[in-house]
Amino acid sequence: MTTTPNQVSEFHDRMLSLGLARVSEAAAIASAKLVGRGDEKAADQAAVDAMRTQLNLLDIAGVVVIGEGERDEAPMLFIGEEVGTGDGPGVDIALDPLEGTTLTAKDMPNALAVIAMGPRGSMLHAPDVYMDKLAIGPGFAADTVTLDMSPADRIRALAVAKGCRPEDITACILERPRHEDLIAQVRETGAAIRLITDGDVAGVMHCAEPEITGIDIYMGTGGAPEGVLAAAALKCMGGQIYGRLLFRNNDEKARAAKAGITDLDRIYSRDDMVTQHVIFAATGVTDGSLLSGIKREPGFLTTETLLMRSKTGSRRRMTYHCPVR
Ligand code: FBP
Repeated sequence: MTTTPNQVSEFHDRMLSLGLARVSEAAAIASAKLVGRGDEKAADQAAVDAMRTQLNLLDIAGVVVIGEGERDEAPMLFIGEEVGTGDGPGVDIALDPLEGTTLTAKDMPNALAVIAMGPRGSMLHAPDVYMDKLAIGPGFAADTVTLDMSPADRIRALAVAKGCRPEDITACILERPRHEDLIAQVRETGAAIRLITDGDVAGVMHCAEPEITGIDIYMGTGGAPEGVLAAAALKCMGGQIYGRLLFRNNDEKARAAKAGITDLDRIYSRDDMVTQHVIFAATGVTDGSLLSGIKREPGFLTTETLLMRSKTGSRRRMTYHCPVR
């Protein structure tokens, strides 16, 4: 491959990661003034605008592969949008400037600004449809739990692998009417359930640190884009995630075709969704079990960011104390 003078072919994850943290910080900071104000759209727009501005300062030739939606529906950071200065490596970007718009509007836990970056072609171009998700933490054999098992069998299999009783397992599930049956089946095993109202990227990430979060397994359906972001996080933290795209109509199937997906029933593992090493940054917007939310004092804001590289397994927690005008 030939490169022009201002094109760099290598993905320098070490150098780019600090820039990535600035991107998620900027999105979180922009949404700070909208926490608890009941306006989801305004909070999301503020985060999107700030994330885009920061991304465009990075020396990358970036393409948004997981973004705010299709070009005609999302004014900015749409799937396929090119970001960065163009002087740098070609990269894929998966982002959710505000993961948990309702959590932010209501000042509820675990709203995050999230972004992942990897070399071109490293991340699944998941359409904006639902995905059936299943995740556990690190240290288990592949296929300890699978999407083809019943929910109760997953709990029992995980308990055997952990050497504990099903009653000692805690599952995290989005509280939705569509999950009533799933919840009933998990409860029958005696396992506990932490129901969350939104934010399944954080829900899945909780599985990677069960001793801190108390969550052993995540299951249920949520956004496919959030599934890819969660896979990027687990690629850095360790742990397994499986996802199967769900299609409710022909329009959703057409979105898959547009994204180049031909096998509609395929089960994607973590490494199918994220095929190469990536970097991942998340900044807390509201307080949560993963990250502290933005603290506002007169004249200052403080943010907390989790910055990770899958190549090294390194994790940084960074506090940013920033003056506000
Ligand atoms: P938003 O930030 O776009 O509001 O998404 C939040 C979220 O809870 C995701 O974490 C999750 O994957 C999805 O919505 C679930 O979708 P639904 O609300 O339709 O069940």
